[in-house]
Formats: sequence, C-alpha cells, structure tokens
Amino acid sequence: MRKKLIAANWKMNKTIDEGLVFVNGLKEKYPKTHPVDVVICAPATMLFPIAEKAIGSRIDIGAQNLFWEPEGAYTGEISARMIVDAGCSYVIIGHSERRQYFHETNEHTRKKIATALNERLNVIFCIGETLEDRNAGRTMDLLRSQLTEGLAGVSDQQLRSIIIAYEPVWAIGTGVTATPEQAQEAHAFIRGLVRSGYSEKSAETIRILYGGSVKPDNIDELMACPDIDGALVGGASLKLDSFLKLINYGGMGL
Ligand code: 13P
Repeated sequence: MRKKLIAANWKMNKTIDEGLVFVNGLKEKYPKTHPVDVVICAPATMLFPIAEKAIGSRIDIGAQNLFWEPEGAYTGEISARMIVDAGCSYVIIGHSERRQYFHETNEHTRKKIATALNERLNVIFCIGETLEDRNAGRTMDLLRSQLTEGLAGVSDQQLRSIIIAYEPVWAIGTGVTATPEQAQEAHAFIRGLVRSGYSEKSAETIRILYGGSVKPDNIDELMACPDIDGALVGGASLKLDSFLKLINYGGMGL
C-alpha cells in the first residue's frame, strides 16, 4: 500500500515568523502515528529555521527549486547541497510556474533532478498540461515527454526518491479542479509510463500526487481515486486550519 503524502507548496508567501508559527502549530496537531506523510515546501529564506523547528516531528521540509551546478558564480541561485545543509529532505522540481515564468525546459528539469538525487534529496517532480494542450488533445503526449525527458538517466533504484506531481496548469490557483475522473485518467497514464519505462514494482510503489485547486471540500473525492497518492497544495496550504483539514481528509488521523 502506498502511503498518502500531502505536500504544501507555499510558493512566494510567508515571512520567517509566519512560517515558524505555522510549523509550531502543525507539530502540535500532527502526531507521529498519523497515517499521512507531510512535507512543507517553503521559500528559501525560512528553510533553515523551520527545518530546525520541525526537528522531533514527522514533518519534512522541502525547497521549491534548485540550480544544477554544485557551486560557483551563479548569482541568486541555490545548490542541492545548500538545501540539504538547511535541513531539507525534499525539493520541488519542474513546477509549471518555473516552466512558465522562468522558461524551464525538460532538459533543465532533467539536470536539476540528477543533481538533487546526487545529494540524496527526495524530488517532487511536477508535470502537467496547459488548457491549450488539453483542448488540442495533446495532454498524454505532453505528460509523456515531460516525464521521460525529465527522468532520462534516472535508474530504477533512484526512482525510489522521486514523487511525481500531476498538476494541470489550468487547475492551478484558478479554483477549477480537475474532476476525479480527469485526474485518475492522467494518474493511471503516468503510472503506466513508469511501468513501461521501469518495472511493475516501481509503478506500484511510486507516489503520484495531484495538484491544482485542492481544497478541504474536494480532497476526499480526489484521494478516493486508486492512482492518486496524495496532493501538492498551494493556496489551501497557507492557513493552518485549512492544511490540517487536508491532512486529516476523510477522518484520517482523527
Ligand atoms: P493551488 O492549490 O493554489 O491551485 O496551487 C497548486 C500548486 O501549484 C501546487 O504546487
């Protein structure tokens, strides 16, 4: 059985103090026996303090991006080693906002994933189609190229550190969620790609998260889909109340 994972992507939100208050509150309400795994992907400025605050809990901390070079003259960039050094065990790679606003390509995601795996970070690897792609019937082709090009060179063994997040771009921050049927179809397709590119075992163990306007009132139906193993949540992860409802979906942990 794949364990569910609910990951918060705070994007460019919160100060250090706000992050600390959240993690402190979450720590109290998230017992070690809770059946759902939790990762908080926060802005770089607060990674170190919130990772320190999370010590002694089961909360994992993640960064939202990295640069593929190990060190050097790359003003403004952060390496995988620095992310580990700050106390993180996860990093998001290939988020659609990186692809859209910062022109990240599949080749960039490939290099970032390789670097992250080298430093033993777990990767939340995001893929997803735009509305234009969906309307043009290109969804599955696009998911296939994002997945296979981003994971080129990743071994079956390394794949254990990869979590895939399916985030249809048209559902991010729009309030429009993919229907459970649309999400399940894409997730089953992605799992099939892992099966053909790797192995039956890898396909059965890899976790595939859904992201895009996940809220307390739609999470239950999404998590009931057989190939949805958790969620990557933006807006609804910013308030502790709402995030607690997400991790306790369907009465989990209560
Ligand atoms: P929203 O939950 O705000 O739609 O964001 C989804 C997302 O991009 C998570 O990475």
